[in-house]
Amino acid sequence: MNIYKAGKNLVSFFYTLIKAVQVYDFKNDVVQNAAQKFVDHINYLFGTMATIELVRFRDYVFFYKQRLRFEIDGYASLQFIDDRMKKLKIKSLTFLPGLNRNEAIELASIFKEEQDVFLKKFGKGTFEHTLIEFVTEEDEIPEFLKDGQRTKQSYFRALKTTRDLMQNLWQNQPVDVRSSKRIIYNLIDSLSHDEVGLLALTTIKNFDEYTFNHSLNVGILALLLGQRIGLSKKSLAQLGTAGILHDIGKVAIPKTVIYNADRLTPEEWEIIKRHSNYGVEEILKLRGLDEIAMASLIVSYQHHWNYDGTGYPRREVDAKPVLYAKILRICDSYDAMTTARVYQPIPYVPHLALKYIWARKNRFFDPILVKVFIQLLGLYPVGSCLELSSRNIGLVIRQNPGYLDLPILKIVVDEDSKRVDGQIIDLSVKRDITIVKPVYPQKYGINPASYFV
Ligand SMILES: [Fe+2]
Ligand SMILES: [Fe+2]
Repeated sequence: MNIYKAGKNLVSFFYTLIKAVQVYDFKNDVVQNAAQKFVDHINYLFGTMATIELVRFRDYVFFYKQRLRFEIDGYASLQFIDDRMKKLKIKSLTFLPGLNRNEAIELASIFKEEQDVFLKKFGKGTFEHTLIEFVTEEDEIPEFLKDGQRTKQSYFRALKTTRDLMQNLWQNQPVDVRSSKRIIYNLIDSLSHDEVGLLALTTIKNFDEYTFNHSLNVGILALLLGQRIGLSKKSLAQLGTAGILHDIGKVAIPKTVIYNADRLTPEEWEIIKRHSNYGVEEILKLRGLDEIAMASLIVSYQHHWNYDGTGYPRREVDAKPVLYAKILRICDSYDAMTTARVYQPIPYVPHLALKYIWARKNRFFDPILVKVFIQLLGLYPVGSCLELSSRNIGLVIRQNPGYLDLPILKIVVDEDSKRVDGQIIDLSVKRDITIVKPVYPQKYGINPASYFV
């Protein structure tokens, strides 16, 4: 069974029933049929699922751990249910085995009420097979959202594959690109159910192995951005593969040059720049090249092309980078800036890296893609450390949809500069606490990634 579709159908059948009870008498066939369809669907789901539950958390509706998306198909029903759950302050709506038509109709008939009326009627009614949990003042994160095991597994598998791929190329061993295809599809799968967790994992930066972690992080950031602009699964696979392979040309450059990057002679610098061209040659060496991997050829060649025509390798005056290359130009720069390197021992804090990118839109970066990228990461991306007006330090653990500048934080350093395992604060709720400034996590001995793995 397709769980995602099952969830969308549940929402859609419930919506149809609610609409029907507003227009017709309960005994009317339209109502009875709608109720029957809803109950049938629930019974069908109980065939394979232990719980039938819709959860609303931070402006998203989830069904069986999957976030339901607003798509053209089923848009009205999801929007309606989402809005009603929000107004009624419902956190979760659970159906138990045994739900019948009458109970379904009764529930549907009160779903349009104001919250106080709803509460009264729900309390009085005989809802034996419906459980409702309401939002509380200090609401915690639902258990399943904390559980990112599957996402972590995909990430670390992907890291291993990326490492193997590059090391084999370094040693002139044959490499089959099909292994990376599998990990890309796993990552695309993680995108759909745990976007937040995947994004958090890109805070893992590794100094020594910068190329492996960097390549994977760039691939993930590109996937997230690609998903936001509505790319198809196949396009995402091409984009993600290109992300992982973008710097592959570096395997053809002597390690002494790569690791000496803090004091390169102009000649050595020219050698580094050749990694774009070498990338094309390295990709052509791969086995199993297909339509998905072939897209990486042009992207590797163009990933240092700027929006305004500058960058390298030099190009014909009016040649424009392809969309994937424009996406990677942003993700590559962001990840490079926020990673410690030989020539950049203290990396940019994420907020400043975004400022840098924002200031160079139209010159280096496609302005529209920059906007989408910032909407994706927020002004203070996950992993940022922020000094607060309450005189403690918070670590950003996730964004707040709709509030770019008000993320959700975990307090990690208290007022006396002591490391603590503090509470979680949603800045969009706690409006009395404000951000003073972003700070360097190194200053407090904090490794942001350790909170997400
Ligand atoms: Fe590069
Ligand atoms: Fe790169």
